[in-house]
Amino acid sequence: MRHAQKTAKPTTAESNPLYVVKRSKIHGRGVYAARRIRSGTRIIEYVGDRISHEEADSRYEMKADDDGHTFLFVVDDDLCIDAGVGGNPARFINHKCDANCETIIEGRRVFIEAIRTIQPGEELGYDYQLTWESTDDPDELALYACRCGAANCRETMLDRESIDARKKKEKRAAAKKKAAARGRKPAAKRKRA
Ligand SMILES: C[S@@+](CC[C@H](N)C(=O)[O-])C[C@H]1O[C@@H](n2cnc3c(N)ncnc32)[C@H](O)[C@@H]1O
Ligand SMILES: [Zn+2]
Repeated sequence: MRHAQKTAKPTTAESNPLYVVKRSKIHGRGVYAARRIRSGTRIIEYVGDRISHEEADSRYEMKADDDGHTFLFVVDDDLCIDAGVGGNPARFINHKCDANCETIIEGRRVFIEAIRTIQPGEELGYDYQLTWESTDDPDELALYACRCGAANCRETMLDRESIDARKKKEKRAAAKKKAAARGRKPAAKRKRA
C-alpha cells in the first residue's frame, strides 16, 4: 500500500506563527516565542485606538485607585495608543527589566522588535519605561512595581527618570550648547540653601 503523496502547503504566518499568547508567571497573559526569533526581527505592531492624552485620562480616570493595569502606550506628547480598544496580541507583552525586545517608533507607529535571539518558549518582554512626574503620589507609583523576576529587576515598570527631571536636564543641556555657541559660559547654577 502506498500513502497518498502530500502536497506541500506554503508556510504562512498563520501556520507557523512567531508567537503564542498564554498565561504568564509575570502577570495575567503574556506572549511567548513559538519558534526561534532572530535579533532584529520585527515581531508585531502595537495597535489600538489612537487617542490624545486628554482622551486617555478621561477613559481611565474612573479606574480603581489600586489598579496599575494599562493597555496604553505613549507615542509622543500628543498621541497615545489604547490597545484595550482594537488591540492585537501585542497588548499582552509584559514588561521585563531584562528585555529581549524593544519598541521602535516609526512615523508615529509602534513596532516591537527582538533585540537578541529569542529561544522557543521564552516570554517576550520590553522595558515599559512608564512615564511619571516627581509630584506623583508615591502610593500610586508603587502600583507599577515589577514582578519580572529577573536577577537585574529594578522593581518598577516606571522609567528611571521622571518626565520633569528629564525635561530640566534637556533644558540645561540646550542652554549649555547655546552658551558654548556664543562663546561664553552659562550662568552658574545656584545652590539651594
Ligand atoms: C499591556 S498589559 C500586559 C498584558 C497583561 N499581562 C494582561 O494579561 O493583560 C500591561 C499590564 O500588565 C501588567 N504587567 C506587565 N508586566 C508586568 C511586570 N513585569 N510586573 C508586574 N505587572 C506587569 C501590569 O498590570 C501592566 O499595566
Ligand atoms: Zn523587573
